[in-house]
Amino acid sequence: MRRKVIAGNWKMNMLPNETIEYIEKFSKLVKDTKNEVILCVPYTDLFYALMNAQDTNIKIGAQNMHFAEKGAYTGEISAQMLKSIGVEYVIIGHSERRQYFAETDESVNKKIKAAFSNGLKPIVCVGETLEQRESGLTEKIITMQTKLALEGLEEEQVKNTIIAYEPIWAIGTGETATAQDANESIKAIRGEVRKNYGEDVADNIIIQYGGSVKSSNAKELFETSDIDGGLVGGASLLPEEFAKIVNYDE
Ligand code: 13P
Repeated sequence: MRRKVIAGNWKMNMLPNETIEYIEKFSKLVKDTKNEVILCVPYTDLFYALMNAQDTNIKIGAQNMHFAEKGAYTGEISAQMLKSIGVEYVIIGHSERRQYFAETDESVNKKIKAAFSNGLKPIVCVGETLEQRESGLTEKIITMQTKLALEGLEEEQVKNTIIAYEPIWAIGTGETATAQDANESIKAIRGEVRKNYGEDVADNIIIQYGGSVKSSNAKELFETSDIDGGLVGGASLLPEEFAKIVNYDE
């Protein structure tokens, strides 16, 4: 049985003092869960989040990184920098980065490799636009993104990758894919992993759903056969609401 992994993506929200208050409250609410809990916070909150989550079951992730080891990349942060302060996870290829910051399947692949080389675990986002969905291209797009993201990785690395299926039309819109639809898309992604890396990897890889996940729809989504948890944006900004999502099975 795969574990459930529930990650919050704060995006560009929250200041250090808010981070400290949040973790103080949230850690008490999720301390008994058997689900894995991750908070992916802005760079400027990472240190505060790590310090305050130290004696809790909350793991900390970043939201992006550069693929180069180091060098003349003004404003960028490397995998080694994240690792050096104790970060464990990093979101790679979020649709907002693909859309606004020219992230490509190629840079996503390079970043995943750099993350693994430095001992970070990537949470890799894939998902179709509304236009692609309406043209019947969902499966084609998400399996292609999956294939290109994972290209050249070893089986063990793929097994340790988390994929987040986030249909772009469902992000921040209040529109959620139906649990059945999301499950079908995730099955297709798992099928692509099976095709390229075999049964064992496909059975073990964690694939989350993201896009307007709330406490009111989490249970239905997470209880399907193939959805192994969620990547939660807006609803992860409220500790009580996000704790309800993490504790969906209680
Ligand atoms: P919302 O939960 O706000 O729709 O955001 C989803 C998302 O993009 C998480 O990475």
